[in-house]
Amino acid sequence: MIEEQYINFEFILRYIRSLVTEDVKQLYDFAMDKDIPVAKPETTKLLYLLAMIKQPKRVLELGTGIGCSAVILSKAISEDATIVTVEKNPENYEEACKLFRENGLTNRIFPKNGDGMEVLQELTQQGEAFDFIFLDSAKGQYYDYIPYLKKLLPRGGILVTDNVLYKGMVANDDLLILRKKTIVKRLRMYLDAISHDPELESVVIPIGDGISLTVKK
Ligand SMILES: C[S@@+](CC[C@H](N)C(=O)[O-])C[C@H]1O[C@@H](n2cnc3c(N)ncnc32)[C@H](O)[C@@H]1O
Repeated sequence: MIEEQYINFEFILRYIRSLVTEDVKQLYDFAMDKDIPVAKPETTKLLYLLAMIKQPKRVLELGTGIGCSAVILSKAISEDATIVTVEKNPENYEEACKLFRENGLTNRIFPKNGDGMEVLQELTQQGEAFDFIFLDSAKGQYYDYIPYLKKLLPRGGILVTDNVLYKGMVANDDLLILRKKTIVKRLRMYLDAISHDPELESVVIPIGDGISLTVKK
């Protein structure tokens, strides 16, 4: 049974996943073999396409994992575009650095070992801007990230957030696992805020574990 079965019918999931290109599937399997959390192949493929359409010059990713999504993102954007990616776990960070070296990406992907909130605060203080942001880290903190994300995004900037439906629990209390109650509550707060903020336009897409797509107006 695929765990996101509450978001899509399993046969739809299997079919969509079967169409995803091998480069994405191979990196997904690489992370799964190491038991490291990684975005679902169909989510990464959507991310790749969104980046291809937007052609950002500066990408920020929170939640590097071992670097799979950053490697795929780097293939969608131009050679002179850069990616800053933040990972809290030192072991994941080291693995990601290795993957970036092996793929000859050290001049385009700049990994940071640190906490997402602290890095967001630093980048905001430094007056940095990123025209494409991918959130894939501490789900319970996304709501608190909003003021910083809004400062970092220029007009027309895109924010993609993974796991916003969190195995269906965000949309249906009957699925709620008690120990996940706070994360689910905070994901709902996040989705409510980005959906009703007058400076943002957002939509939730039921792909993978659910993503939200936001554009700063
Ligand atoms: C789902 S994985 C990221 C997968 C990656 N984006 C990919 O698809 O290849 C989430 C990562 O976020 C990291 N993480 C969790 N909390 C964090 C935080 N507060 N700041 C930065 N990274 C965090 C975890 O250690 C984990 O490696």
